[in-house]
Amino acid sequence: MQTQDRLSKNQTIKTATKPYNREDWKRGYESQPQETDYWISNIDGQIPPELNGTLFRNGPGLMDINGQPIAHPFDGDGMIVKIAFKNGQAYFSNRFVCTEGFLKEQAAGKILYRGVFGTQKPGGWLANLFDLKLKNIANTNVIYWGKKLLALWEGERPHSLDPNTLETLGIDDLEGILEPGDPFAAHPRFDPSCAMDDGAPCLVNFSVKAGPSTTITIYEFNPDGKLLRRHGHSIPGFAFLHDMAITENYCIFFQNPVRFNPLKFLLGWSSAGQCIQFNPSAKTQIILIPRHGKGEVKIVETEPCFVFHHANAWEAENEVFIDSICYDSYPSLDEEIDFREVDFDAIPPGQLWRFQVNLATSQVQHKIISDRTCEFPDLHPKNVGRSYRYLYIGTTQNDSGNDPLQAILKIDQKTGEQQIWSAAPRGFVGEPVFVPRPGSTKEDDGWLLVLVYDAANHRSDLVILDARNLQQEPIARLHLRYHIPYGLHGNFTPEYLGPVV
Ligand code: CO
Repeated sequence: MQTQDRLSKNQTIKTATKPYNREDWKRGYESQPQETDYWISNIDGQIPPELNGTLFRNGPGLMDINGQPIAHPFDGDGMIVKIAFKNGQAYFSNRFVCTEGFLKEQAAGKILYRGVFGTQKPGGWLANLFDLKLKNIANTNVIYWGKKLLALWEGERPHSLDPNTLETLGIDDLEGILEPGDPFAAHPRFDPSCAMDDGAPCLVNFSVKAGPSTTITIYEFNPDGKLLRRHGHSIPGFAFLHDMAITENYCIFFQNPVRFNPLKFLLGWSSAGQCIQFNPSAKTQIILIPRHGKGEVKIVETEPCFVFHHANAWEAENEVFIDSICYDSYPSLDEEIDFREVDFDAIPPGQLWRFQVNLATSQVQHKIISDRTCEFPDLHPKNVGRSYRYLYIGTTQNDSGNDPLQAILKIDQKTGEQQIWSAAPRGFVGEPVFVPRPGSTKEDDGWLLVLVYDAANHRSDLVILDARNLQQEPIARLHLRYHIPYGLHGNFTPEYLGPVV
């Protein structure tokens, strides 16, 4: 009896110190079936008139198919959000990516496909037995490159959309480069000035075919979208690679120590994502692939950890530095628990780590830059692959423990200073996107564009922060008419792709 009393008391205290209300957080996962277009008129503050261009974001728009819930938001159909800025005004649009699976399921009014992250077709294991057909849900990232707007999902080829109307044009094989079934990662990097191309910008992306051994293919494209370089490399073992960092000379991957046991997937008991298990007795392998494609692939080992996203990487003399968001282990997907009921305290928090690889000795050192829970990093686009000073990243309201992201953290790598802007208690943030102010010379002279779910009004805001000082009030808060479910990744282009004004 005494033990019980103590337990319930502890739980009460724990709940009381949480900076958010779970019901608030959960509502940000409601489906958003509406597609709308409008000039945003409900604004606090003023949109900077020099902020011109277009923000694109991607993420799951539906958490159910005609009332049948999907098991995990990563299985949700991709919905593109576009906010186009011109002369102090902003135009909002959102559209679903009309993938084959989206159209078929909407027509049928029910789930027809298995999801990678736990969604099973109704009917139990018999209905899912040996069904390896997964839906290309186009929900992870969206990029504008070579005049094409591409919705990315790492398991299959990208979908192309009209950048003005967001109409889905179809699967894009990138001028015959990709075959049906070929993956194309959702985490490209934009090299602002590639030495191999006389300093022209280039787009670097990869694809992964995992099995008993894993093939990584690197693709680099010029600003017109033409293929510059492509090379494939076989890596021993199963590799789950979500993101990549680049430097001027390397593409860098972290091969997390995981095992993949596909039997339960093949038998229809589990989804593919649920068959991945962390293996704490194995090391994390850091894979460095020369970008010109001719040199040898270098693999070095470090302590076991799990990485989804890298913040940045750069070279200095004979060393490579990589800043990554590290987890102690892979947050396994529990088949029994609804993702909305997840116990944040029971899953490992992400923290910002720095790895230092000596290319001559293959020694790896690492240190924690910030032990605060964080995810979704961004930085000035001109510093991608180079040393940098300022990082912007989503974080929790409390400075310890694991919770949903409610704040934006700015880290000054030179001084160690940290600044925070918080949307707590009723706001929940997504990935910040840094936009340099035109003509700026200082690395943090620009804006952070952040989609914030505002539970108090059950709608989302696009918040514009002055990246130089996060402690002050936002420059502007653009209240959207409806909520946007928590999203994944997006990008800004200085090109204005809104209606003619
Ligand atoms: Co990602």
